[in-house]
Amino acid sequence: MSTAKDVHAEMAQLALQAKSAQDLMTRMVELLHQRMLKYNWVGFYMLEAARPPMLVLGSFQGAMTPHTHIPLHQGICGAAASTRKTVVVDDVNLDPRYLACSLETKSEIVVPVFAHGKVVGELDIDSHFPAAFKDEDRTLVEYCASLVGASLEKSSQ
Ligand code: SME
Repeated sequence: MSTAKDVHAEMAQLALQAKSAQDLMTRMVELLHQRMLKYNWVGFYMLEAARPPMLVLGSFQGAMTPHTHIPLHQGICGAAASTRKTVVVDDVNLDPRYLACSLETKSEIVVPVFAHGKVVGELDIDSHFPAAFKDEDRTLVEYCASLVGASLEKSSQ
C-alpha cells in the first residue's frame, strides 16, 4: 500500500508527462484509485456554464454513478463548488447533503479545482471506510486539484 506522501511525488511527475489537462485527469484518477487503498471511487466533475450551471462527470475510476450531472445546490459536490472550499465528510450517512453513489460509501472528500481564480471543476473521492480522509489525504487531493488547475490554465492561455 502506498502512502499519500509516496503518491504526492508521483503526481508531480505525472503532471510533467501529461499531454493535456484531460490526459492528466484521466491518469490521475487511475493512479489515485490504484495506489490509495481507501480511495474506492475517484472522479472529476467539471463545471459547465449551462443554465443552471452543472457539475458534469468527467474522468473517473470505480463503479458507475447515477449522479452524472449535479446542480450547485445539491450534494457534497455542489457544496464544495458553491463555497469554493474543500469538504471532508467522515460519515456520509450523517450528512443530509449527501447524494448516494454506492451503498458501500462511508466517507468522502471533494476539492474544488480553480483556474484563473474561478471554480472550473472538482476532484471527488469516496471511501468504503469511515473517516478515511486525514490531513495528509487532504493535502494530497488539494495538490492534485491544483496540478489540474495549473494545467487547465496553461491550455487556456
Ligand atoms: N456523493 C456525491 C455525489 C457524487 S458520487 O459520490 C460519485 C455528493 O453528495 O455530491
